[in-house]
Amino acid sequence: MKVMITGATSGIGKQLSLGYAKAGHQVVACGRSQTKLDALTQAQPNISTLCFDLTQYDSYPELAADHGPLDLLILNAGDCEYIDDALNFDAKRFEKIININLIAIGYALQAWLPKLKTGGRLVLVSSSAQLLALPRAEAYGASKAGLSYLAKVLAIDLAKHQIEVTMVHPGFVQTPLTDRNTFAMPMMIGAEEAAETIMRGIAKGKRDIRFPRLFIWLMQSLSLLPFSLWRRLAMRMVSP
Ligand SMILES: NC(=O)c1ccc[n+]([C@@H]2O[C@H](COP(=O)([O-])OP(=O)(O)OC[C@H]3O[C@@H](n4cnc5c(N)ncnc54)[C@H](OP(=O)(O)O)[C@@H]3O)[C@@H](O)[C@H]2O)c1
Repeated sequence: MKVMITGATSGIGKQLSLGYAKAGHQVVACGRSQTKLDALTQAQPNISTLCFDLTQYDSYPELAADHGPLDLLILNAGDCEYIDDALNFDAKRFEKIININLIAIGYALQAWLPKLKTGGRLVLVSSSAQLLALPRAEAYGASKAGLSYLAKVLAIDLAKHQIEVTMVHPGFVQTPLTDRNTFAMPMMIGAEEAAETIMRGIAKGKRDIRFPRLFIWLMQSLSLLPFSLWRRLAMRMVSP
């Protein structure tokens, strides 16, 4: 298979790149750091790389002829920053997170969806955070809720082109992204385990991959509460 993965230089994307390469597939790993990308190629020679910033929308590189047509396009790159003071809303921070987590997805679809072969699969890495309104997640949660909505619509609209869509909703995964968090992160798993779960789900043709199971069950159960009740619980989470 030919697999293209964004956000391949770190965390979940790095483990997905190594995992698919070790399984013998041809991987196109995308990232912003050439040094980190070179390390991937050194580890697995069947990983080729594309170095660019996904928020520089006019500078996406062309995919080399031998990189396509793709069997799997995994749009995984993303970032998380919190809105610490909703009253003095930081619009620049909001824009930064919406840009990488949502707007860049639109540009990536424009650039590479035509490179996905008939019968291929698009994978969008969202987050379980989109299930619930979480304190300080105005930017991250909104971007991922938007992304999950986008994934569902694409699953409908791309069906007639024989392109399957999978959305991924991880709980907490230990990566540089979560290393920055100072709050408790229950049921956190490692990036390698997360990547294995995603690869297994993709191989089974799943349209929605959610993990870890117990954490997702908890989030889904809480999301069924009336919002007024969840709001009170969430307010208690943040009040001293
Ligand atoms: N970790 C979790 O608990 C968790 C939970 C739910 C969902 N997710 C989602 O999983 C995905 C991967 O996250 P992760 O935890 O593996 O985070 P990570 O270790 O921080 O990796 C993020 C990747 O995205 C790349 N990236 C960020 N901004 C970019 C930009 N402007 N242009 C190009 N590449 C960019 C990073 O590149 P650099 O190396 O250059 O920074 C890195 O390769 C994200 O979409 C995240 O929202 C993570």
